[in-house]
Amino acid sequence: MRTDSTPNYSDVVSATGFLRPRASRSMASFQEHLATSHRILALLGAGLSASSGIPTFRGAGGVWRTHDATQLATPTGFAADPVLVWEFHLERLEEMKNKGPNAAHRALSELASKNEQFLALTMNIDDLSERAGHSAESLRHLHGRLDDLRCNMCDLHLSKTDSAAALEPLLQNDSSTPLSLGDIPRCPRGECKDGLLRPGVVWFTEPLPQALLESIAEWIGDENDNSRRIDTMLVIGTSALVYPATAYIEGARKRGARVAVVDIEQEDPSLLGLAEQDWYFQGDAATLVPVMLGYLP
Ligand code: APR
Repeated sequence: MRTDSTPNYSDVVSATGFLRPRASRSMASFQEHLATSHRILALLGAGLSASSGIPTFRGAGGVWRTHDATQLATPTGFAADPVLVWEFHLERLEEMKNKGPNAAHRALSELASKNEQFLALTMNIDDLSERAGHSAESLRHLHGRLDDLRCNMCDLHLSKTDSAAALEPLLQNDSSTPLSLGDIPRCPRGECKDGLLRPGVVWFTEPLPQALLESIAEWIGDENDNSRRIDTMLVIGTSALVYPATAYIEGARKRGARVAVVDIEQEDPSLLGLAEQDWYFQGDAATLVPVMLGYLP
């Protein structure tokens, strides 16, 4: 007879004939494993920032449910209508400025400060991890950041200070005055005559920056090098549908990692290939991640 209050979910589901989830639900066994983990990789998705009030992309209330990604988040969409694309990204920027990090961002930031062998790969384009104190050395923005600007024509990437200066008038723009093409900042390079500044995020159809991919590959290391084993792979708040980000889960597994997934939805056993040695925790990341990582605010 079970003595704890956790339902034996696996038995219930298999008895009803559905595909049986195989990952463990035991927080105690996860915490035990984490305590002996040296190298830890994390893949962070929109669900991490969801309870801070930033909408996800694909779930209930997700941005791509009501907005057309092809128009708003592709280079061809920007070429066709830069004003529309900027309006959409300015809304996201306003949202980000008005929201703050939650306990999961803080717990991950604390893990980073305690463990030099921890790397977080975030798909989020917000700055909530940084505002929770997560150090730049152990955080990579796979899809860039909303508040970094670059030229749509040449290879110019503005510094943080120059991006902030270029964004300021756009953010101050009164929403009753519609944005026009003349409001969109131009590339400051004299020789780049037609260049418009755009958000420095990775849009659909665009590759991830080569230097970023190389720095991650270097951290991950060769799969045959035993000294580069990864003990734990945390997968937090992502639908895990976007490549190459999702491929890092398999990469970590090949280096020995046990995978721990946190998601508000029920486990979909056809995704991610979780097995008995892995974990699946269903619920809000802002509640679960601090418990998993033993974070005491
Ligand atoms: N806690 C944990 N998980 C949550 C929460 C929450 N509070 N709220 C939602 N989720 C889960 C959803 O169930 C879903 O599985 O977070 C996941 C969010 O998935 P997506 O919206 O697809 O976001 P993500 O996986 O980060 O998207 C990847 O797609 O559009 C691109 O570039 C964009 O970086 C983004 C990428």
